[in-house]
Amino acid sequence: MSVPFAEVVGDPVAHSKSPVMHRAWLAALGIEGDYRAAHVRSQELAAHFETCRTLPDWRGANITVPHKVACLDLVDQFSADVTAIGAANCIVSIGNGRLRAENTDWTGFFAALGKVDLRGAHAIIIGAGGASRAVLYALTSNGIGNVTILNRTHARAHVLLEDMQVEGDVLALDAALPAADLLVNASSLGMVGAAPLSVDLAPLPAHATVCDIVYAPLETLLLTAARARGLRTVDGLGMLIEQARTAFELFFGRTPPADSAALRRLLTS
Ligand code: ATR
Repeated sequence: MSVPFAEVVGDPVAHSKSPVMHRAWLAALGIEGDYRAAHVRSQELAAHFETCRTLPDWRGANITVPHKVACLDLVDQFSADVTAIGAANCIVSIGNGRLRAENTDWTGFFAALGKVDLRGAHAIIIGAGGASRAVLYALTSNGIGNVTILNRTHARAHVLLEDMQVEGDVLALDAALPAADLLVNASSLGMVGAAPLSVDLAPLPAHATVCDIVYAPLETLLLTAARARGLRTVDGLGMLIEQARTAFELFFGRTPPADSAALRRLLTS
């Protein structure tokens, strides 16, 4: 018997925690459905989504590295957020074989960030890829005053600021930090298998929040250093869970259980 299903599409994809989360929610809500991991390389991406268009039970896909920008060429519609951000993390079936790109990363990031007063605040973002786009959009949509981007490739950071029409500084990864209210690592630095991230947090004031979107490992060196300074920290699991929550609603039309603590235990056990 065929059942409605969604999937996560990426390369690599084996590390993804999305199947565990979505299957837990399907089970909790008693929905007969499935959620799978699909290892799809860049050269296979267009053919993959052409096939998805023809599958009546396919509800949609989470999009992960390295397809968040490339997938935009393969859909029929964009949400307004996707247009503004220039990247998508979901593709949803909207019927008659048509596909719509959505971005739930930015709302997921904002929900996970919790109680930070962003109005007029100064934020540092490390990285200038698809995830940084979603982070910058979340911050500017909530009144951030000033932004500094640290990135290996300066040109990419300037394009990001220009695309979002935000004024800001671009610094090298090893530059001394400004005394900002919030620091977000939105790069892959510090992730298992990636290069380490080494920044000196000394210039940050005592009220600063440090957020890492990397969730493997959950306790990154950046978060350890921030905790050692007594700064407020936000790990990457919150954003992962919150972006998935909205994606689940888009795929299956139901709201997942609100208990994030149980899900965190499942994801870290
Ligand atoms: P995503 O869409 O998940 O954000 P991405 O677009 O590949 O992924 O962006 C990854 C980010 O991590 C980029 O800011 C990248 O820097 P560049 O813009 O210079 O490529 C950064 N990054 C990844 N590996 C890095 C490394 N070894 N050294 C420095 N920066 C790195």
